[in-house]
Amino acid sequence: MESLTRRFTARSADFEGPVLVTGAGGCIGSWTLAILVRAGAPVVAFDLSDDRRRPGLLLSEAELGRVVWEVGDIADPEAVERVVSRHGTSAIIHLAALQVPFCRADPIGGARVNVVGTVAVFEAARRHGVRRLAYASSVAAHGAPPETPWLATLYGAYKACDEAIARAYWQDWQVPSLGIRPGVAYGVGRDQGMTSKTTVAILAAALGREYEVPFRGPVSYLYAGEIASAFVRAVSRDGDGAPVFDCNGVVTTVEDGLEALRRLVPRARVRAGGDPLPFPVEDSDALLRAHIGDYGAISLEEGTAETLRAFEVLVPEGKVSADF
Ligand SMILES: NC(=O)c1ccc[n+]([C@@H]2O[C@H](COP(=O)([O-])OP(=O)(O)OC[C@H]3O[C@@H](n4cnc5c(N)ncnc54)[C@H](O)[C@@H]3O)[C@@H](O)[C@H]2O)c1
Repeated sequence: MESLTRRFTARSADFEGPVLVTGAGGCIGSWTLAILVRAGAPVVAFDLSDDRRRPGLLLSEAELGRVVWEVGDIADPEAVERVVSRHGTSAIIHLAALQVPFCRADPIGGARVNVVGTVAVFEAARRHGVRRLAYASSVAAHGAPPETPWLATLYGAYKACDEAIARAYWQDWQVPSLGIRPGVAYGVGRDQGMTSKTTVAILAAALGREYEVPFRGPVSYLYAGEIASAFVRAVSRDGDGAPVFDCNGVVTTVEDGLEALRRLVPRARVRAGGDPLPFPVEDSDALLRAHIGDYGAISLEEGTAETLRAFEVLVPEGKVSADF
């Protein structure tokens, strides 16, 4: 699967010490590991479990062997600090989180992971002088302020809180950070969360199965490799302040995304139903690109084709579940 990351590159010379990736076993974390490992940069992964299934969709066994894997709970400040200190961490990409449905099912657990976990990361950065810290907020944070037309979710409230935490750490201790609010990520490894269904549609087409995406209308097709590349780029130099940027990739509609899929698989039985997503997805990535520089891009057609081709290889190998 080496070809999947060819558009998204990094330079090991930009990193003087290991890059710590939290939530490394997740979708965006897996792509982040893949980009860093292929650049020859030292990487430490941190996740609640040792499950390397998603990174293994992108990386060979030998490549995975170059990742130092630390199992721990992001909401355990001592564990986070131990890892940051032990490895001489030079940069942190903080992705560990529980997504919308998991926060709704377990509000206290969601707050622990998404809020306390973020404080633990900032605290470790403060104590160890880490000047390169990028973290994932979310488009769902737009639903947090009062009077907003967008859906209020606990997940969005936690992410908005993370942004406020980042501002306070800059104000009080000059810990720099960069927050990114990803829209709807798609691609290999995107298999959980309420917006993962545009990826499931591609998987269904690869399997010749019928599928209805449970939302329609405006959506962002943000390729997982592209957003991972943005996170890597964001920590390729020291930060300044605590800015936050939206990141949506290709702004389109679910219907257009499925049309692109049908051009590749004319017999695909995929359609969109339900209500539009309750989050804004039209914000451009221009401000983020102006701030951190070019981090690569992929069109909807190419991203869909690459994901489809990858599933056509990964499903017969038994690496991607056909249960959906
Ligand atoms: N995927 C998207 O479309 C999207 C959109 C907006 C924001 N985000 C944010 O981007 C980040 C990455 O998203 P993703 O799609 O890769 O998520 P994911 O759900 O695929 O992965 C999250 C990872 O965090 C780990 N994790 C959960 N609890 C943990 C804990 N207590 N300690 C350590 N690790 C823990 C999980 O094991 C998992 O590997 C998240 O912060 C998410 O909220 C994602």
